[in-house]
Amino acid sequence: MLNEENSGRAKNSQLSLDMKAQASGGPAFRIFHGDCVPGMRALEKNSVDVVVTSPPYNIGIAYSTYKDKKSSEEFLDWCEQWAQGVRRVLKPDGAFFLNLGNTSTNPFFAFEVAQRLCGLFVLQNTIHWIKSISIDKDEGTESYGHFKPINSERYLNDCQEYVFHFTLNGNTRLDRLAVGVPYADKSNIRRWSHTGGRDKRCRGNVWFIPYQTICRRAKERPHPATFPTELAVKCIRLHGKKNAVVLDPFLGIGHAALAARQCSDLVSEFIGFDIDEEYLNVACEVLGCAWATSMQNEQALHSLKYRQLKADIQEGIDDLQRGRVSAKSVDDLIAEGKERLKAPKPDGSA
Ligand SMILES: C[S@@+](CC[C@H](N)C(=O)[O-])C[C@H]1O[C@@H](n2cnc3c(N)ncnc32)[C@H](O)[C@@H]1O
Repeated sequence: MLNEENSGRAKNSQLSLDMKAQASGGPAFRIFHGDCVPGMRALEKNSVDVVVTSPPYNIGIAYSTYKDKKSSEEFLDWCEQWAQGVRRVLKPDGAFFLNLGNTSTNPFFAFEVAQRLCGLFVLQNTIHWIKSISIDKDEGTESYGHFKPINSERYLNDCQEYVFHFTLNGNTRLDRLAVGVPYADKSNIRRWSHTGGRDKRCRGNVWFIPYQTICRRAKERPHPATFPTELAVKCIRLHGKKNAVVLDPFLGIGHAALAARQCSDLVSEFIGFDIDEEYLNVACEVLGCAWATSMQNEQALHSLKYRQLKADIQEGIDDLQRGRVSAKSVDDLIAEGKERLKAPKPDGSA
């Protein structure tokens, strides 16, 4: 149920919020409270351009609702289950950016998950997300980012995670220069024809993105396992398609949604799920929108589709009366409309 009392922000229907967002030029936000597995089944097949997400890592993190400790097999089976949902909604030229990290005691975790998903996707790129680094220079060592203190005689501080760039065929085009960097040696601009005269080269697959420093975690970042907005911004820009629909099935407090808003020149719609009401309240507070349950959203969308279809058919009838189109084309429009209105079945089939 849409919890109006608790969220305090859910006074408008999702539909009117969608419309408001569209009118103001930013992406339309569809934020769902609920399990992303059935949630994604309610979305249209091949309707999402970019998925940017980070699932729980099965390491016993104290989420408010989710229990982060399953057996390894159970966890990997679950990953395959939600990844099937991602595959179903992804457009053929879409991209699935999956952030995963290892732990000192489970150094193969990220690869085990990635390996499990290789039956569903092609791994097109592997990005190394560097969270902190120390660089030795002539004048001394400079450190960047936050070094989480660990007290160990065995393990080094783990300063990096992965972003696996999965696609359906391994040949999805990227806009590499959208996240490119200037040449250090400017003579390269004229030397290489592929620069087209621009002072930009590919950034490569090692991205240094530190967390923003915070003073009070509980207030400023009230979630135990987030990624920085900038990480998701880079993924969306790298995919580069305009009018994109972006999805995060594990929204948390909404960094992927904030990234979508920062990329409003590219993103038309953002869809997010989380099972945790508390986290969604934080996300929606920042985004200025409301969350709702899948069912209510789908009903709202269905009625939007119905009204659009009615308008299309009316237009077809007007054209028929003016002799601009044949009766058959209006029949076809109605038949196609019936398909468009079919509600997805719970198993995700059309
Ligand atoms: C690693 S966190 C994501 C954090 C997010 N990237 C951010 O920056 O805020 C994983 C999230 O998945 C949510 N979650 C766990 N199981 C879920 C499910 N079946 N459907 C939707 N969300 C789920 C948890 O509540 C948690 O907030």
